[in-house]
Amino acid sequence: MAEKKQGFGTLACRAGLNPCPTTGAIATPIYQTSNFVFENVQDGARKCESIDNGYCYTRLGSPTQSVLEEKVALIEGGEAALAFSTGVAAISSLLFSVLQQGDHAVVSDTCYSATHYLFDNLLRKFGVETTFVDTSDVKNVEKAIRTNTKIIYFETPANPTVRLTDIRGIAKIAKEQNILTAVDSTFATPYIQRPLEMGIDVVIHSATKYFGGHGDVMGGILVGTKQMMNTVRDDTLKNMGGVIGPFDAYLIIRGLRTLEVRMKKICSNAMKIARFLEEHPKVENVFYPGLASHPQHELAKRQMNDFGGMVCFELKGGLEAGETVMNNLKLCRLAVSLGDVDTLIQHPASMTHWYVPREERIKTGITDGLVRMSVGIEDPEDLIADLEQAFEKI
Ligand SMILES: Cc1ncc(COP(=O)(O)O)c(C=O)c1O
Repeated sequence: MAEKKQGFGTLACRAGLNPCPTTGAIATPIYQTSNFVFENVQDGARKCESIDNGYCYTRLGSPTQSVLEEKVALIEGGEAALAFSTGVAAISSLLFSVLQQGDHAVVSDTCYSATHYLFDNLLRKFGVETTFVDTSDVKNVEKAIRTNTKIIYFETPANPTVRLTDIRGIAKIAKEQNILTAVDSTFATPYIQRPLEMGIDVVIHSATKYFGGHGDVMGGILVGTKQMMNTVRDDTLKNMGGVIGPFDAYLIIRGLRTLEVRMKKICSNAMKIARFLEEHPKVENVFYPGLASHPQHELAKRQMNDFGGMVCFELKGGLEAGETVMNNLKLCRLAVSLGDVDTLIQHPASMTHWYVPREERIKTGITDGLVRMSVGIEDPEDLIADLEQAFEKI
């Protein structure tokens, strides 16, 4: 009889973790070392050639990093994972490994600003062309594909507007034309969304966010086939050097153990806040995939197990009203980033997405007055009271 697959909560808590065979320590040891001693020259040669033969130097991988990679591969349902120092290191290492001069990329026009910069500036400098499209309509992606299209890259839900892309729809057209697909699933986490099971090739996470979960660590992760992870490790992780440190890998392992319980509370809080905002007379628009008013609510129900912790809104008084609210909040913290246990609030047009040209920004829904909230695990009544007292200052 086939063994019953463990539930997500069990996997998040336990996957990849084994007591230390020599001491019995249950918490993953932090192998804070840059070097590993070899038994002899032949042993060193084998280990320098491939991490599959053992560890040689921490830029190529460390035992703490390996535990993190095994754990993420198991909870995301992929063959293998690869960990980096930041989310941007993961994204750039993937792209500089799989793309070359003359290639073309189709990319979501709404994505994290550094990702946009990578495609629009750095990769262009090396002869890779990008077409940015509104991926919320799969037909736009289909139309943008050229004979030299190598990758379709998108975020869903996208940063910051929580716009969704039909994961299965993209996977289908990419498979028909033999194009690689990569999705940044940071906003969703594997608790909410399973892109590999829907036919996507590579899943990306900024582990700085919900994986770490406590706003005290940076990290990035790729999940895909063992062959692709090996290629990226030997190619750009090793030679561009964005490796994760052992202590940071440990913190992310620890964070992942409570991913499910944090996400449950965060999603429940976010839904309550989205409903409060939707009913508030001073609020013009609320964007949250869990609301029936979200234009892609049906798609959200098809491809997400819950609706996440990111809520965006616009106030009737536009930017000025938004500034008044953000400057008067006492419990919600005015800060970029997301996915922390603390509720964070920020202004994308002046903070995370200032680099995107205004016209382009507004076209993609990042208006001057848009406010982005990353809802935390505090009591929802306290968060709502904080918003209410700030709204009264408008
Ligand atoms: C969706 C998304 N992807 C990637 C990144 C980059 O991650 P990091 O800051 O860990 O480099 C971010 C950062 O905010 C993000 O929001």
